Amino acid sequence: MDNVFKGRSLCVIDDLSIEERKYLFSQVRRLKQAIIHQNRDVMDEFRISDPDFGIYEVFLEDSTRTKESFRNAASFHHVKLTEMSSSSSSFNKGESYADTFNTLTGYRNQIFVIRSKVEGVCRYLEKECGDFAVRNGLPYKPVFINAGDGKHEHPTQELLDEYSFMEDNGFSTDSIHLALVGDLFHGRTVHSKANGLKLFSKVKVDLIAPVELAMPANYLQIMKDNGYEIRLFGSIDEYLMQNDIASKWYFTRPQLERMGERILQRADELRACITFRREFLDKLPQGTIFYHPLPRHKEHPVIPTFLDEMPLNGWERQSINGMYCRIVLLALVAGRIGDDFVPSTPVEKEKVEADYIHAVDPSLLNQKKSKVVSEGVRPIDEGLVIDHISRGRTPDEIRTHMRLICKVMGLDGLKGGEWVSTGSDGKTWKGLIFRPGHIEFDRKQLKRLAAVAPGCTLNFIADGSVKQKYRASMPPRIYNFDDLMCTNEACISNSTQSENAPAMFYRTEESKYRCVYCDKDHSFNEIFKM
Ligand code: CP
Repeated sequence: MDNVFKGRSLCVIDDLSIEERKYLFSQVRRLKQAIIHQNRDVMDEFRISDPDFGIYEVFLEDSTRTKESFRNAASFHHVKLTEMSSSSSSFNKGESYADTFNTLTGYRNQIFVIRSKVEGVCRYLEKECGDFAVRNGLPYKPVFINAGDGKHEHPTQELLDEYSFMEDNGFSTDSIHLALVGDLFHGRTVHSKANGLKLFSKVKVDLIAPVELAMPANYLQIMKDNGYEIRLFGSIDEYLMQNDIASKWYFTRPQLERMGERILQRADELRACITFRREFLDKLPQGTIFYHPLPRHKEHPVIPTFLDEMPLNGWERQSINGMYCRIVLLALVAGRIGDDFVPSTPVEKEKVEADYIHAVDPSLLNQKKSKVVSEGVRPIDEGLVIDHISRGRTPDEIRTHMRLICKVMGLDGLKGGEWVSTGSDGKTWKGLIFRPGHIEFDRKQLKRLAAVAPGCTLNFIADGSVKQKYRASMPPRIYNFDDLMCTNEACISNSTQSENAPAMFYRTEESKYRCVYCDKDHSFNEIFKM
């Protein structure tokens, strides 16, 4: 059996399955004990010990803990560590991420640890630089470790957070009741909790933040999909007015400077909602532990320093655990350890795409010929009719949607028209696009139509009757089209980044399109460039 960890990237926490994370944590526990007791034999089991093994740290945003713990982890491993100086690199001459990291991959660097404002950069480079390595016959596949990407995720922080929670749970993963307090809007460490907390069988999360700093809807949805019990509170004061109080609190630093003048004017008020005060102490359950990914602001710490000496201080041990977790992660993806791990479920093969375009039984066609077109539209002898567009929306919304469909499907230059009418109930609005003449759609075009107009029907008409009819539903994945774009400007695939990363989306349970790079959810009419 191959080592399933070797050569794997960690772009989001879900890149490691629950059982893989449990295995990782069992190794962290062994290593931590070995280092504390200086058991060199066990420590050596983890070491990569290869001076030619290249690890590259590229921090395009400031960092103390993540950068330094990885640096110390690399030193533990006795490997070649390089830190890229972004201020003097060719990034400043407009070089792309792909060209930069392809170059570094070619110099025998196997693991990249990247912190960037650009979301999804590791996911993109995993593919780009993997292809580069194959093209150039390199004997390794480069690994990308996300050390924090914009507001998206911070998966290695999530590893050390989960390990710290487990330590305080007697290493049980049966359940957790966690309060997340602070800037849940910008905080990538709390965004990683949306999937990270799946480690625990039963999860109750209390989200404590004023609306201006509330958890973004897509992460809230992920938490709901994962079956967590979720409660929302606007402030610590409000939270402590009820009796079901978590014994684990995870604080994050408010990043109000990112939110413009209007919010900055209310900074004191917002900070007060999420800052712990001495008078709250009596309300905490016995044995409460506080955590914080750090740094905390020296003037406005949400965990004030008077708490440092108290038993509820979990953030210092949490920070120390960062180095142990990162040593083990490097050992795993380098293939130094992990040979003995056997997944209980086979690694999922790529799913066959469920069909998104369904041909209607030809015997059912033309039973009511007049239904091919709606009121006011003259029947056509030959052509296509896209019907049932945006059924149930307002006429304005339907017209806007039809403009998008015409653009995406290349129908603008053809004769024909668009029509808004009510359906058979005389109340519900729907749209219809007709184009006379001989028109064919290939498979790729059918997929575009299904993506941009799910729920529509497509009728091909010849000799005055419907020859083929299809019903469209949202494709499970949409990619490989030049005019797709994630609307998140911080995403690597957004055109403002100029990285030419191809946009890709997968369908969620709520019929949204989630970006594969930054996890932003889109409705079907948002993913094509207008
Ligand atoms: N927790 C964390 O990411 O800290 P740094 O920004 O100092 O790396």
